[in-house]
Amino acid sequence: MSEFAVEATDIVRTFHDGNFRALDGVTLRVPTGQVFGLLGPNGSGKTTMVRILSTVLAPTSGTAIVNGLDVVKQPGRVRKVIGLAGQFAAVDENLTGFENLRMVSFLNHMEKSTAIRRSHELLVDFGLDTFANKQAKTYSGGMRRRLDLAAALVANPPILFLDEPTTGLDPQSRQDLWSIIERLVEGGTTILLTTQYLEEADRLCKLLVVLDHGKIIAEGTSAQLKSQLGNTVLVLTFASTDDAQRANDLIAGIPEKPANVDGTVIEATVSNGPAAAADALRRIDDAQITLVGLQLREPSLDDVFLSLTGHKAEDVDSVEVPAGRRARRKAKV
Ligand SMILES: Nc1ncnc2c1ncn2[C@@H]1O[C@H](COP(=O)(O)OP(=O)(O)OP(=O)(O)O)[C@@H](O)[C@H]1O
Ligand SMILES: [Mg+2]
Repeated sequence: MSEFAVEATDIVRTFHDGNFRALDGVTLRVPTGQVFGLLGPNGSGKTTMVRILSTVLAPTSGTAIVNGLDVVKQPGRVRKVIGLAGQFAAVDENLTGFENLRMVSFLNHMEKSTAIRRSHELLVDFGLDTFANKQAKTYSGGMRRRLDLAAALVANPPILFLDEPTTGLDPQSRQDLWSIIERLVEGGTTILLTTQYLEEADRLCKLLVVLDHGKIIAEGTSAQLKSQLGNTVLVLTFASTDDAQRANDLIAGIPEKPANVDGTVIEATVSNGPAAAADALRRIDDAQITLVGLQLREPSLDDVFLSLTGHKAEDVDSVEVPAGRRARRKAKV
């Protein structure tokens, strides 16, 4: 097996007659046998990349090799080695869980008896066996996601693309899906997943790339990304937004770059935590502003994201979302 399951080089994808670049020269290598994370805010190009790698969409330029096969020149062969669970669960609502999987098995040209056995096996693996004969429209969001993932695994593909597999799920369903993903990787599957949840990336992914406006703006392990920030995050909480704004002006120069003010809370990355905190406290105290809370903590992947993109990963409303997409997000399973 080759070292890389996916090798994408300088992928560009334009829309609107070439006037808009959804992907603007993306190069990534996904090592075989790992979970690889594609992170980025809404509209950064994650789904476009997944669609190109899974042969749904052609790149405008650039090359993508999946399991040694070229997605443009050998799309049929690529489809045989990949599984895809898209951003919106693609189960047939009117079919039962079992019927959904059996249909996908037939589409994969399986013999009837193999299709039935494989469908049952997956339903058990994904904890859906007791709902096997219920229509998918009666399933919860988490169950649909699991069924969709099971459908992507019917043919036992060595490479799996998961587009925001846990968006919209409750914490327990999310944990369940993480366990399934970890089990798959232990079994040798390579997974490329997109996510907006940095906790998810931190837990599952060995390597990450962060996309923004169709370009990679950071890549590496989560520890490497975190170490790009200052050593410590200083968090100051005030009684009012006015106090926070005034304090932010007063502490100018202490953080390595301008702090983030979110309502009554200031978050600043600093290189020498205790000294910076003492300095900030002195200035705030001199101006007789009341401090409600003070915390020094290690940077999280969320801080990395904020520092790179200027907004928090899950902060949907602060992101430019093209018309029509916001409403659709709410409908995500
Ligand atoms: N078929 C299309 N026609 C026109 N524009 C498109 C098309 N597909 C995607 N885009 C645009 O390309 C950009 C990237 O979209 P994409 O769906 O890849 O982002 P994403 O990172 O998956 O976002 P989200 O987190 O909301 O799923 C967006 O601005 C989107 O509107
Ligand atoms: Mg998407």
